[in-house]
Amino acid sequence: MEEQDYPKPRTGQEYEQEAESRWLEGVARLGHFNLEEARACGSTHRGGYQMSHSPKIYTAIDLFSGMGGLTLGLKRAGFKVVAGVEMNREIVKTYRRNHPEILVVEKNIRDVKGKDILEAARLEKVDLVAGCPPCQGFSKLTDKYHREDSRNDLVLEMLRLVKELNPRLVMMENVPGLATRGKDRLDKFVEGLNDLGFTTNYGILHLANYGVPQSRRRIVLLAGRGFRIDLPPQTHSRKRNEGERLKSWPTLKQAIGRMKRPITLSKALKSGGPSKFNWHVVRDLEPLSLERMRAIKPGASRGSLPKSLRPQCHSEGDRGFENVYGRIGWNRLPPTITSGCTTPCMGRFGHPSQIRTISVREAAMLQTFPLSYRIETSFMDTACNMVGNALPPVFAKIVAEKCFDALEGDAR
Ligand SMILES: C[S@@+](CC[C@H](N)C(=O)[O-])C[C@H]1O[C@@H](n2cnc3c(N)ncnc32)[C@H](O)[C@@H]1O
Repeated sequence: MEEQDYPKPRTGQEYEQEAESRWLEGVARLGHFNLEEARACGSTHRGGYQMSHSPKIYTAIDLFSGMGGLTLGLKRAGFKVVAGVEMNREIVKTYRRNHPEILVVEKNIRDVKGKDILEAARLEKVDLVAGCPPCQGFSKLTDKYHREDSRNDLVLEMLRLVKELNPRLVMMENVPGLATRGKDRLDKFVEGLNDLGFTTNYGILHLANYGVPQSRRRIVLLAGRGFRIDLPPQTHSRKRNEGERLKSWPTLKQAIGRMKRPITLSKALKSGGPSKFNWHVVRDLEPLSLERMRAIKPGASRGSLPKSLRPQCHSEGDRGFENVYGRIGWNRLPPTITSGCTTPCMGRFGHPSQIRTISVREAAMLQTFPLSYRIETSFMDTACNMVGNALPPVFAKIVAEKCFDALEGDAR
């Protein structure tokens, strides 16, 4: 990588303006909004929240708030998010930077009482309790090792807080494994909600069907106290469908095609830190990893590696994860972004035309975060973790709109 290829660090207003306008064009291109609508809500993650035409203010609490993907979607749908709960101090920095007006309870959720949240937020009641409990224990990746994860019962901590906060509506997101490996927890969660008088509805949705440039399936549960909430209808499909007015799934090119070369972590750390480069930063790769990547064509996976370059555990056959060391194709739907998104041996994260993985910023763009959304850490692993675990805000907004409309309908 040549020195002159690095993005020039920019600061302040100049950066914010360019980043915002590029993101606006990006979302308009992906068909999430037209440009005027996008402009109208473009800056909401830094303060305002009310972009709906409703005169009412509906409040929401985001449990397990992470870097704030769900919060951003809720705000864009018109909710006033009053509090988040997140126990990882390093992740809370990013949430606070992007949502300075929201109270964050920086604690283990097991030690948090509903009345403490309401008191701290100076509220008597809340309309929506939303949350994405940690899902590692139910995911396909840990399924391989048949481990029981101590975080699995956090779904039931969410139920406890629903009981204590007594909202009108609940929204929960998780990996599809919650309905199989975690079925006992899901059943208890649904039974608990039903006992409280909620009507519960859930399903497994493919997020590309909602314009997220990613192959990502997630379970979404919506529950209204005394009323049912439908899951949102899809807006996109694998192929463009004029009859049903569905757009085609977005490609890697549409999402990150205009990004310049990133900087490596070691160089970023010597030149002021990754934030100065808006986290358009990749890991420094070993020569062997670079050689492997060179040997794989865009869109192909490790199966196309010559035997001599195959990692030892994969050299004999096709066991293990097919996509590791793979490269994404420009015109394909990108893979699920995980916390391994900048590590070649953890999935198909290779860039199609440069010998590198996608950068942290590009991963955040595939998760539909605006370019102006700050990632406030200097640790690569934390950055990748919170980006990989986030709920894509564009999808969160679509689901949150369903919740908002249900509250409006219930109020009439
Ligand atoms: C799936 S992520 C949430 C993503 C977030 N909704 C977003 O859209 O950015 C789960 C989060 O729960 C946090 N977490 C895990 N265990 C927790 C606990 N016991 N109490 C509070 N937060 C916890 C993790 O640090 C992680 O940030």
